[in-house]
Amino acid sequence: MLGKNAKLFFCGSMGVLVAAIAMAAWGFPKIVQSQINKNLQLENSSTMFEKWRVVPVPLTFKIYVFNVTNTDEVNEGAKPALDEIGPFVYKEYREKRILGYGENDTIRYMLKKTFYFDEEASAPLTQDDEVTVINYSYMAALLTVNDLMPAAVGLVNTALGSFFTNLTDPFMRVKVRDLFFDGIFLNCIGENSALSLVCGKIKADKQPNMRPAEDGSGFYFSMFNYLNTTESGPYDMVRGIENIHELGHIVGFDGAPTMRYWGDPYCGQLNGSDGSIFPPLNQIVPDRVYIFEPEICRSMSVGLVGERNIFNISSYLYEIDESVLASKLANRNNKCFCKKNWSANHDGCLLMGLINLAPCRGAPAIASLPHFYLGSEELLEYFEEGVKPEKEKHESFVYLDATTGVVIKGLQRIQFNIELRNMKSVPQLEKVPTGVFPLLWIEEGAEIPAELRQELHQAHTLLGYVEALRWAILGLAILLSLASGWCASRATGVGLCARQHNSVSFIGNNFDLNKG
Ligand SMILES: *[C@@H]1O[C@H](CO)[C@@H](O)[C@H](O)[C@H]1NC(C)=O
Ligand SMILES: *[C@@H]1O[C@H](CO)[C@@H](O)[C@H](O)[C@H]1NC(C)=O
Ligand SMILES: *[C@@H]1O[C@H](CO)[C@@H](O)[C@H](O)[C@H]1NC(C)=O
Ligand SMILES: *[C@@H]1O[C@H](CO)[C@@H](O)[C@H](O)[C@H]1NC(C)=O
Ligand SMILES: *[C@@H]1O[C@H](CO)[C@@H](O)[C@H](O)[C@H]1NC(C)=O
Ligand SMILES: *[C@@H]1O[C@H](CO)[C@@H](O)[C@H](O)[C@H]1NC(C)=O
Ligand SMILES: *[C@@H]1O[C@H](CO)[C@@H](O)[C@H](O)[C@H]1NC(C)=O
Ligand SMILES: *[C@@H]1O[C@H](CO)[C@@H](O)[C@H](O)[C@H]1NC(C)=O
Ligand SMILES: *[C@@H]1O[C@H](CO)[C@@H](O)[C@H](O)[C@H]1NC(C)=O
Repeated sequence: MLGKNAKLFFCGSMGVLVAAIAMAAWGFPKIVQSQINKNLQLENSSTMFEKWRVVPVPLTFKIYVFNVTNTDEVNEGAKPALDEIGPFVYKEYREKRILGYGENDTIRYMLKKTFYFDEEASAPLTQDDEVTVINYSYMAALLTVNDLMPAAVGLVNTALGSFFTNLTDPFMRVKVRDLFFDGIFLNCIGENSALSLVCGKIKADKQPNMRPAEDGSGFYFSMFNYLNTTESGPYDMVRGIENIHELGHIVGFDGAPTMRYWGDPYCGQLNGSDGSIFPPLNQIVPDRVYIFEPEICRSMSVGLVGERNIFNISSYLYEIDESVLASKLANRNNKCFCKKNWSANHDGCLLMGLINLAPCRGAPAIASLPHFYLGSEELLEYFEEGVKPEKEKHESFVYLDATTGVVIKGLQRIQFNIELRNMKSVPQLEKVPTGVFPLLWIEEGAEIPAELRQELHQAHTLLGYVEALRWAILGLAILLSLASGWCASRATGVGLCARQHNSVSFIGNNFDLNKG
């Protein structure tokens, strides 16, 4: 009778062992995972949703501008000497306006950014500081005309005299306030066919940097005003309810599933998220994560560097690397980004490290990383001084929480340049050296708010407990089966065997990570 009982206990506890192994290996992680996922996906009951919709703390938007210190010498053909001035710091608020929900688990929204100058963080610099920079809109107009009808450049330049007052050289002396946001007035009133050509082109291209004056007399040129006044989008983003690994992927922009500017299905791909949200990383840690940048009309990517501890949170670090900006020789796929002949030596492609924005902006602008970091050495030879790439100061990176994929810290940096080109038919450009001339660079930085950091800490701690519990249950089950095995063989010890019942009752617990 006792022996029969012990056998029963033995069989029972073997069953418990199997169940415990199954729970430890599969059940627990699954339950925890589904709790995490629930809080990440873009549904209005989830923890992340409101933080995603209205970013709770402002991002830091820093601008560094290149002051040209030897304009007279450059006008005579010398190498430019630049002096970086900055940062001019702005607070950037981001808010999404939800337009609705689409097919295939998507949400559609418009993104609104608002910028406010941060006097304290910028001190001693102010928005009224004056700098000497390359005359961006002037070069843009001349380069555009030069492309359309090279023979007319001289003529157009004369006409530009009335468009740009005081045209003595390709540089301008401006207050940074006007250059960044307020705008520099460009006059379009005048009896002149070349002038109306340039003004007509600006109007037709709807260049984002050109804000039409209210009275129609011309345009205001500024680098970032359009970011502050217009919403971008609409974006279609995957909500991650059906498949959490697709969370945050942008599958549509401006109503289309690809960017049409590059005229190529590969380069037009919308890859990755808007940089604010990523899928959880605890099952799949990708080698590369993509971020779609509407400002430069393409997706960029950062590569996995490794595991790092930041703010005491274990996370994965991703950094920008050469493959993204590589010339087409190094990365054949990048060929479709080569849309413009920069010079005969370069076969339609810009030098390594440069992104041609002409197809995207309607103006012959060129983007790069600050100080041409990861760019061709050749770019640096153009300068006398003031351009010196350094990884720490000029790269882009993002730290993602190792479990949830939440952005712990991220910095994104872009420099805007334009070509300074020697043109014999234009007196102002007769002697200048030809090269890619930087205007300014920006750094957009985000950091996890303290409150969310707290929640992540709690989640990680809880996960630690759950992990410990997994092994504890497994260990207990093994102990019990050993004990009952011993019971069966010795046909004694009912007292010992009777204790096995509550071993599985933990499993019913709900591991709620939602503390917010
Ligand atoms: C939550 O989202 C649904 C769509 O999934 C929407 O119909 C509903 O109005 C939202 N509820 C609130 C309170 O915003
Ligand atoms: C920029 O350089 C010019 C000389 O070219 C100088 O007069 C001016 O003060 C500089 N601006 C700042 C903000 O340092
Ligand atoms: C949704 O997915 C299906 C199948 O993958 C596809 O045929 C359809 O075009 C998608 N709808 C949208 C709006 O993208
Ligand atoms: C951005 O726009 C807001 C109004 O929408 C304005 O108050 C603010 O001054 C603007 N920021 C800058 C830097 O011009
Ligand atoms: C043009 O240059 C003159 C002298 O260099 C200066 O006094 C005048 O203010 C300038 N005009 C404009 C509109 O910049
Ligand atoms: C540069 O262009 C601005 C207009 O964008 C014009 O007012 C200024 O006179 C130009 N500067 C020079 C030195 O030609
Ligand atoms: C888009 O992502 C795929 C992998 O998901 C990658 O192979 C491709 O190179 C990316 N395209 C661009 C333009 O970055
Ligand atoms: C980091 O976290 C560990 C436990 O996760 C804690 O013991 C330690 O005090 C924390 N350190 C700091 C500086 O917060
Ligand atoms: C670029 O220019 C070179 C010579 O000027 C020419 O041979 C080549 O076909 C051009 N490439 C493109 C893409 O226009």
